[in-house]
Amino acid sequence: MTVVVAFVSRKGGVGKSTLARALATVGARRGLSTALADLDPVQRTATRWQRLREKHQVFPPLSVEAHGNVDSAIAIAGEADVDLLVVDAPGNAPAATMEIASVAHFIVQPSGACFDDLQPAVELFYELKASGIPKSRLYIALSRILDENEEEAARAYIEVADFNLLPGAVVERARYREAHNHGMSFIESPGEDLNGPAAATLGALLTKIMRKHRLLRPQRAQIAATQAP
Ligand SMILES: Nc1ncnc2c1ncn2[C@@H]1O[C@H](COP(=O)(O)OP(=O)(O)OP(=O)(O)O)[C@@H](O)[C@H]1O
Ligand SMILES: [Mg+2]
Repeated sequence: MTVVVAFVSRKGGVGKSTLARALATVGARRGLSTALADLDPVQRTATRWQRLREKHQVFPPLSVEAHGNVDSAIAIAGEADVDLLVVDAPGNAPAATMEIASVAHFIVQPSGACFDDLQPAVELFYELKASGIPKSRLYIALSRILDENEEEAARAYIEVADFNLLPGAVVERARYREAHNHGMSFIESPGEDLNGPAAATLGALLTKIMRKHRLLRPQRAQIAATQAP
C-alpha cells in the first residue's frame, strides 16, 4: 500500500514544490520506494527539476513523473508497489486541491509567517475540514521563515486556529535556491545542518509516514490471510 503525502496551498510560491522535492529525497534515502508526482500542469517545477537532477547525476536518482490527476498518480504508484507517493499540487486550484486532499493520507500546507500567508492557509484547511477531511490528516509546515520572532508568532496563530503544525521550519536561504538550480533538494544543499529545523520538519513527517506504512502493511496481510483457501 502506498502512503500518499500531498503538498497543497491556496497561495502560490509558499514552498510546496520545495518541500515535496525534499520529502521525496529523504524518503528515498531512508530506503522507501518513493515517487514524486508533479500535478502542476502549468509550471511542472518537479519534472523540470528532475531533468537537472539527471543532468548533474545527483544521488539517489528519483522517480518524478507528471500526471494529469491524482488518481492516475496513485494507480501507477500502486502498480509499481511504491511505498511513498509525494504529490506536488498546483497553487490556487480549488478543484484539484479538493480532489488531491480527499485521497491523501497526509495533507501538508506550507505557510509563511505573516498574516498574508497564514490567513488563506487556515481558511483552506477549514474548507477541507468542512468537506469531511479529518483534521488529523491536515498539517501546516512553516516555510520561508526569516527569524525566530516571526516563527513564534506564526506558531501562536496556528495554535489558536487549532490545526496541526509540524515541528521545525524551513528557513529562507539563497543556497536552497542554488541547490534547486543543480537538481538537489534543499535538504541536500551543501552545508545543510541535518539536525537543523528543516530536518526536524521532514523527520516528523517521515516518522508519520513510516508509522502509517507499518499500519497499512498488516491490513494487506490480513486481507491475504482471509482470502487464503
Ligand atoms: N526556504 C526557502 N529558501 C529560499 N528559497 C525558497 C525557499 N522556499 C522556496 N523557495 C523558492 O521560492 C520559489 C517558490 O517556491 P516553490 O516553488 O517551492 O513554491 P510553490 O508553493 O510550489 O509555488 P507554486 O504555487 O507556484 O507551485 C522557488 O523559486 C523556490 O526555490
Ligand atoms: Mg510548485
